[in-house]
Amino acid sequence: MANIPSPIENPEIKFTKLFINNEWVNSVSGKTFPTINPCTEEKICDVQEGDKADVDKAVAAAKNAFKLGSEWRKMDASKRGALLNKLADLIERDAQYLASLETFDNGKPYTASYFADVNLTIKCYRYYAGWADKNHGKVIPIDGEYFCYTRHEPVGVCGAIIPWNFPLLMQAWKLGPALACGNTVVMKTAEQTPLTGLYIASLIKEAGFPAGVVNIISGYGPTAGAAISEHMDVDKVAFTGSTEIGRIVMRAAAQSNLKRVTLELGGKSPIIVCADADIDDAVETAHFGLFFNMGQCCCAGSRVYVQESVYDDFVQKSAARAKRRTVGNPWQPSIEQGPQIDSEQFNKILGLIEKGKKSGAKLMCGGKRWGNKGYFVEPTVFADVDQNSVIAKEEIFGPVQQIMKFKTIDEVIQKANDTVYGLAAAVMTKDLDKAITLSNSIKAGTVWVNSYNVLTAAAPFGGFQMSGQGRELGEYGLRNYTEIKTVTMKISEKNS
Ligand code: NAI
Ligand code: MG
Repeated sequence: MANIPSPIENPEIKFTKLFINNEWVNSVSGKTFPTINPCTEEKICDVQEGDKADVDKAVAAAKNAFKLGSEWRKMDASKRGALLNKLADLIERDAQYLASLETFDNGKPYTASYFADVNLTIKCYRYYAGWADKNHGKVIPIDGEYFCYTRHEPVGVCGAIIPWNFPLLMQAWKLGPALACGNTVVMKTAEQTPLTGLYIASLIKEAGFPAGVVNIISGYGPTAGAAISEHMDVDKVAFTGSTEIGRIVMRAAAQSNLKRVTLELGGKSPIIVCADADIDDAVETAHFGLFFNMGQCCCAGSRVYVQESVYDDFVQKSAARAKRRTVGNPWQPSIEQGPQIDSEQFNKILGLIEKGKKSGAKLMCGGKRWGNKGYFVEPTVFADVDQNSVIAKEEIFGPVQQIMKFKTIDEVIQKANDTVYGLAAAVMTKDLDKAITLSNSIKAGTVWVNSYNVLTAAAPFGGFQMSGQGRELGEYGLRNYTEIKTVTMKISEKNS
């Protein structure tokens, strides 16, 4: 934990308005809504509440900024890269403030805000800055006297709807590739965590992006979010959140203008611990794979399958590790776990824990609220979980680990794949053949071997099945923000 600046425990709130066309504006309706500190359940501040009328204004600004001949359309690709690098530099300059603001609004430990969220956000913008002038087409040797080539053009106005679990990072995963490819963006941040997204908007303006290229709206899903996914002038929508809302977004796209859709949704990711694994390592990795970010990760390793001969040892050690997990004040460097995001998530998690208790699973530790103020939940471990019980099927999105037993590799492949999801998975083994067989057999967009949550801007991420559509990050992520145009020219013979 070297070189971490101390947190600003009561960061000044500098931006609460909507960011449209590089201006700070009030909502058309004049409405505001509060954002809550999940540690104290107290209001931090009110922010302007965007709705359909505000989305219309933002889309008009984004459409105007995308017009042929606009500054943004004429800008050299290398300059777009330079602007993204400048943005990354400004985030780095303000890392202490941004990490503090993220902890204030979201409740996650400051050390995680700083080392994970802000750091990976900077890296994501830098990674996509590098792609700005490298997303090029091909020359294709088609039959006949023709010159044929492809152009990778921007899609246009890109809508983005992001969740609250990693506000800065989810913003970067969408803005980075969208801007590298030359699109313009209308983004709705999550209603639980509007603050860091607005601060980034101020840095976007400071970096020198032309007006209208990025527009950031705070607001609720059924109003502002729906207005984006239904909009006739939005060419693409990228959504991260629940599978339930992903379906609504896709339906809205289908029923409006068939805008392109990418979805990054829920999961129930398996972690397979083979008997030959280093058990202490596997316990720690599975613990991190589930409990990181209070369990509020789309890729949380929420089904742990442990081979029979090491099962009892693994369960005991996992429960002991969860009991040692430090919960409390997220400004303290020693704290591993802060509160859940809001009362809705808190109640959902406690409700699922009760279902777990009734299902016959063995509660090894936790199972209740932690403390009496703030949305804290005790680190909870269930063993002997029934494969068909609710806690083995549904996304809990909280600090609740499910451990199950298996005998053979064939059996665990079948069990791991017995889900509607397919976001991530992990395999713990020292046996290369098992590592390859299992990673090839599991339906998941990402498989980690002897590791978990290794997320980098350079490697694609996304889900099989009902965990999503398309891939974000890496070179693959550029596809979502690119239209391919084929240009074919007749070559007439000229002899003189
Ligand atoms: P949600 O899916 O309702 O919210 C995600 C985003 O979608 C937010 O910006 C929200 O305002 C927006 N939204 C909501 N309704 C919308 C609509 N009708 N049209 C357009 N946008 C809409 O997720 P929520 O309610 O915050 O959490 C519910 C569950 O979703 C969690 O318990 C968890 O299981 C899952 N989730 C998964 C996430 C992931 O990273 N994949 C992130 C957040 C939640
Ligand atoms: Mg919701």
